[in-house]
Amino acid sequence: MPVDIRPIAPDDAPAIARLAREIWLDAYAEIIPQPQIDYMLAQRYDHARLRGDAADSQKWLRQAFVDGVLAGFTACEICHGEFKIDKLYIHPTMQRKGIGAALVNHAAEIAREQGFPSMILSVNKQNEQAIRAYTQYGFRVRDKTVTDIGGGFVMDDFVMEKTL
Ligand SMILES: CC(C)(COP(=O)(O)OP(=O)(O)OC[C@H]1O[C@@H](n2cnc3c(N)ncnc32)[C@H](O)[C@@H]1OP(=O)(O)O)[C@@H](O)C(=O)NCCC(=O)NCCS
Repeated sequence: MPVDIRPIAPDDAPAIARLAREIWLDAYAEIIPQPQIDYMLAQRYDHARLRGDAADSQKWLRQAFVDGVLAGFTACEICHGEFKIDKLYIHPTMQRKGIGAALVNHAAEIAREQGFPSMILSVNKQNEQAIRAYTQYGFRVRDKTVTDIGGGFVMDDFVMEKTL
């Protein structure tokens, strides 16, 4: 399936935030309590913050279109000297069609261009679907982390790494 990958511009922030909400409510309903989903969406997909991220030359935000329809997005950044896929989300009706793989390949190209030997990501320990996908893409579990994100919430994650 042809996937058209384009940079996310600051003005795309509302569309990306809307898409994120739809995906999160579907993907995390059974994994993360609703108040924590609302808290994290407000924190990470605040329009002003997304606009800032899209304008930041040290962050790589990309959106994927299929037949002209926005189907998913990714956001990469440098975290403690490593190249990190910070966000990777595909619309529920468009999952398992290779769009995630296309975005990860695109992220890998950016990481290589930037001179990184590997890339990392964090994934909720209970997110089996994503862990399966990341394993398929060549990531392996490197670490476990429990991160206090404020509001009385924690993220209980695996850190996964893929050698480039
Ligand atoms: C995880 C995610 C990014 C993967 O992207 P995708 O486009 O759906 O996945 P791909 O088509 O690239 O599939 C890659 C592999 O992932 C695995 N996979 C993906 N979805 C799966 C599902 N629902 N059940 C089982 N395995 C699945 C499969 O191994 C698949 O390969 P296969 O179809 O050849 O067996 C996407 O499903 C998603 O956005 N999920 C919800 C949000 C989320 O959890 N994001 C990750 C946050 S860390």
